[in-house]
Amino acid sequence: MTKKFNRTLVTSALPYANGPVHIGHMAGVYIPADIYVRYLRLKGQEVIHIGGSDEHGVPITIRAKKEGVTPQAIVDKYHSIIKKSFEDFGITFDIYSRTSSETHRETASDFFLKLYNKGAFEEQTSEQYFDPEAQMFLADRYIMGECPHCGNPNAYGDQCESCGTSLNPTDLKNPRSTISGATPIMRATKHWYLPLDKHESWLRQWILEDHKEWKSNVYGQCKSWLDMGLQPRAVSRDLDWGVPIPLPDAEGKVLYVWFDAPIGYISNTIELLPDSWEKWWKAEDTKLIHFIGKDNIVFHCIVFPAMLKAEGSFILPENVPANEFLNLEGDKISTSRNWAVWLHEYLEDFPGQQDILRYVLTSNAPETKDNDFTWKDFQARNNNELVAILGNFINRALVLTQKYFDNKVPQAGELTEYDRNTLKEFADIKGIIESHLDTFRFRDALKEAMNLARIGNKYLADTEPWKIAKTDMARVGTIMNISLQITANLAIVFEPFLPFSVKKIRQFINMDSLTWEQLGRIDLLPEGHQLNPSELLFAKIEDETIEKQIQKLLDTKKANEGTTETKVAPQKPNVAFDDFAKLDLRVGRVLECTKVPKADKLLQFLIDDGINKRTIISGIAAWYKPEELVGKQVCFIANLEPRKLRGIESQGMLLSVEDTDGTLSLIQPPKDVTPGSQIG
Ligand code: MF3
Ligand code: ZN
Repeated sequence: MTKKFNRTLVTSALPYANGPVHIGHMAGVYIPADIYVRYLRLKGQEVIHIGGSDEHGVPITIRAKKEGVTPQAIVDKYHSIIKKSFEDFGITFDIYSRTSSETHRETASDFFLKLYNKGAFEEQTSEQYFDPEAQMFLADRYIMGECPHCGNPNAYGDQCESCGTSLNPTDLKNPRSTISGATPIMRATKHWYLPLDKHESWLRQWILEDHKEWKSNVYGQCKSWLDMGLQPRAVSRDLDWGVPIPLPDAEGKVLYVWFDAPIGYISNTIELLPDSWEKWWKAEDTKLIHFIGKDNIVFHCIVFPAMLKAEGSFILPENVPANEFLNLEGDKISTSRNWAVWLHEYLEDFPGQQDILRYVLTSNAPETKDNDFTWKDFQARNNNELVAILGNFINRALVLTQKYFDNKVPQAGELTEYDRNTLKEFADIKGIIESHLDTFRFRDALKEAMNLARIGNKYLADTEPWKIAKTDMARVGTIMNISLQITANLAIVFEPFLPFSVKKIRQFINMDSLTWEQLGRIDLLPEGHQLNPSELLFAKIEDETIEKQIQKLLDTKKANEGTTETKVAPQKPNVAFDDFAKLDLRVGRVLECTKVPKADKLLQFLIDDGINKRTIISGIAAWYKPEELVGKQVCFIANLEPRKLRGIESQGMLLSVEDTDGTLSLIQPPKDVTPGSQIG
């Protein structure tokens, strides 16, 4: 089944316009997509890259409510921030539009109608929560109540953030509307469902049999969805933000965001090419590739293809090279906790240094598993690779040519065996890099490109033209000619990865028309060709600079610790009163208190318990000096089974409280009481 393709339609996931973009988005989706389209363009292929903002969905309406503005104001703000970040980082979209556009509303609406008229949906009426005060149906996120598992009083209708359980709104005890605070009531509402179960068998064949070449993380996720069995999915919601359902009896209903967003790829193509868009979406010789992150796999591999198939006239994606997630300094990137490197902030701190980030995020891309971004690695890759290998080689090639040959390409004389071996090494590079790029292995492709620079670097270090300049200028000419040809090759192979630097290199070598097909050739710069003055491509990043970034993240961590929300331990399951009553809790007075030898954490207490004296060991040594506790009253469990700690029998347990930062303090009665008094 090898198909012949004549053009490639590349889409990148439409980011939600409810926040700026960060390095995770870039590493997962936009940089790989941009590398791919730049590569195809460099090959002279017909390709377009479609992007845009995803401007619908409940999170945007929640954000708007929180900030006291309209959803439109939110998406206007973030759409322009996101669009600018992409431009700044050289992500080359042929169009970057938005799902709030008129074209999109029309396209998505028509798409729904076409499916509706074909009978591709099932209608179902179900009971859902309705806010009687606000007079609206409530999305899951708009309902809060008590978690049935841990008792957290502020669990959401879709998830309890305290114990992590995913919930249905009807699971919550004492539900309340976050819009009005009213108690929601059940009301019947009609929705349209895409019967994925009916699509299961062709999807199985298409993915599991016909697309075994998909990346294993993508294939595996699809397989597990298919093996679980597909269910009908609602494509509508009761909400006032989105594309209205174009039916007479659908007042207050919009398309579910995951129904309209992928249609955004089509709308944006129509906006770009109103007269010729159809060949991009309907011709069998168009190759459709979706770049996405792993949380989008099911929508792009199962739901959207089912929509396209149901419509009937569209092609299906040929590949969906989804990436895994990028973490930051060991922690999951999180917008709400501000745990991220934001692109616009990066550019403030590293102006003009987009290529370093592009390089690091590609070298370390989460292609097959989650990966970690660290500032130390960022620094090391810049200093040891971009500066020491690529930048160093090109700089030496250009500076020496300037010095010895007045910035003109010198003549190459007879090649030595060493020259020929060097050139042989990069004769194969084109095929190797192509095979990586064609199969979305961008890290490997970049590694090979860097090897080319390594070869150049080694060539200059081994031939040492600066040493023979006094004796054999013809030989120096040959060496510099070869070095400049390698430089020209670097100006081809790095274009998809480091477009800003390559633009400079092409300016230095005075050659802006290089194509991919020329890669591997050694006659790219003719003898006598005039070069331009050059400058350093990359600069070393000092420890100081990196420490500042690390400090910034530490500050974020600190700030987050102040918010107790997620720090408080979840509540344990209920116990019966009778069980509680079995505990004998009492007050006692400390008669003696000493450190337990060789145990940093432990103090040994002798307690007057009103009846007798007893020994209790407590892990509180970090927080108290033994002598300050003598004479004080403490609370303890009197009837806990005695336990041996460090060879000493502890006859009970002192009660203490652990603050969210881990600090322990002993619980003491608010006023002196008779030792042996019971607590209850
Ligand atoms: N907005 C979604 C996200 O950020 C991606 C939408 S991709 C599209 O996860 F297919 F819907 F366009
Ligand atoms: Zn819970």
